[in-house]
Amino acid sequence: MNPQLCKFILKATPSSIINPKPTMNTPLPLNTGATIPALGLGTWQSEPGQVKTAVAHALKTGYKHIDCAYVYGNEEEVGEGLKEGFASGVKREDIHVTTKLWCTYHSRVEENLDLSLKKLGLDYVDLYLMHWPVPMNPNGNDPMFPKHPDGSRDLDKSWNFVDTYKQLEKLLSTGKVKAIGVSNFSVPYLEALLKRVEVVPAANQIENHPYLPQQEIVDFCKSKGIHITAYSPFGSTGSPMFKEEAVNEVAQKHKVTAGTVLLSYHVARGSSVLAKSVNPSRIDENKNIIPLDAEELAALEDIHKNKGLTRFVYPGFGVNLHFPDKPHPTGDYDPLDNLP
Ligand SMILES: NC(=O)c1ccc[n+]([C@@H]2O[C@H](COP(=O)([O-])OP(=O)(O)OC[C@H]3O[C@@H](n4cnc5c(N)ncnc54)[C@H](OP(=O)(O)O)[C@@H]3O)[C@@H](O)[C@H]2O)c1
Repeated sequence: MNPQLCKFILKATPSSIINPKPTMNTPLPLNTGATIPALGLGTWQSEPGQVKTAVAHALKTGYKHIDCAYVYGNEEEVGEGLKEGFASGVKREDIHVTTKLWCTYHSRVEENLDLSLKKLGLDYVDLYLMHWPVPMNPNGNDPMFPKHPDGSRDLDKSWNFVDTYKQLEKLLSTGKVKAIGVSNFSVPYLEALLKRVEVVPAANQIENHPYLPQQEIVDFCKSKGIHITAYSPFGSTGSPMFKEEAVNEVAQKHKVTAGTVLLSYHVARGSSVLAKSVNPSRIDENKNIIPLDAEELAALEDIHKNKGLTRFVYPGFGVNLHFPDKPHPTGDYDPLDNLP
């Protein structure tokens, strides 16, 4: 096209079209050609008796993305909430549902997916993730968190996460998953995986917030076309992040809450973000996503530097702030050493 004409068209096009204001449902692209809505409702630690109402309320008030996992133990009630949402007129095809394969099912992927689908009352999920790259004993003393007599985690060292992912790949032809991906994968884990499999994960769901920006994972995923979904954006339950000075300065400038800034931070970075709440007024409040400029983003990204917070790199996998003072459950075992 004629460069002069191009310039004219750009000048004449309203900036709201060139840079549309982000919203809770901004469709973010996945490498499958589908999109994922920017904001999802988290369901971890959403208690029985509360999560059905939370999911139904979210769907009826405009949420289009629900994040689940088999290990959360509440998929049946999440399914009841989905059903109530559908009964109110929300269409299945208009919402995005993610769920995750649990560690004791690494060698039985389709079996675990089928259990989740049954509980959720769905024929398919939009995204199926390997929750952690750590296989645990499928025949241990607990169906979810098997342990040895000395209390250490009972890992399945005869299995590896690449073979798990190959089973995920096979699900794509069943119609039961629209996309597959991973969660809690650090860069070395992603590199090892990409070398050995055919389908590039559509997403990597990681802990992400101003205390833990994980920029190297975010940048690596961007370079490979892997979408980032941020979990624990408030730093999870009891987090001090709502009181962070830099977060509140940005919030005051925009006349919004600290929560809005913490969620908007991810959308400005091109990620989707999961906010968990079972409280209807907070589910409503969390819908507010605002644009943040480069200076504001930089101020938020500086928080972890100013606080002297460093990543906690576990010997086994990924990074996570949830258990900073505890030894990692995999001990010295690194699933990366166990690949074909
Ligand atoms: N892939 C993984 O390994 C992984 C790990 C962790 C989490 N996740 C996913 O990510 C989701 C979100 O992470 P998260 O549950 O750890 O924590 P989070 O969303 O960062 O924080 C949830 C906490 O913040 C409270 N809250 C919610 N909105 C609020 C607001 N506007 N103002 C003040 N407090 C607010 C919630 O309480 P109320 O419920 O009482 O409002 C709850 O105590 C999870 O639910 C799960 O779906 C995935």
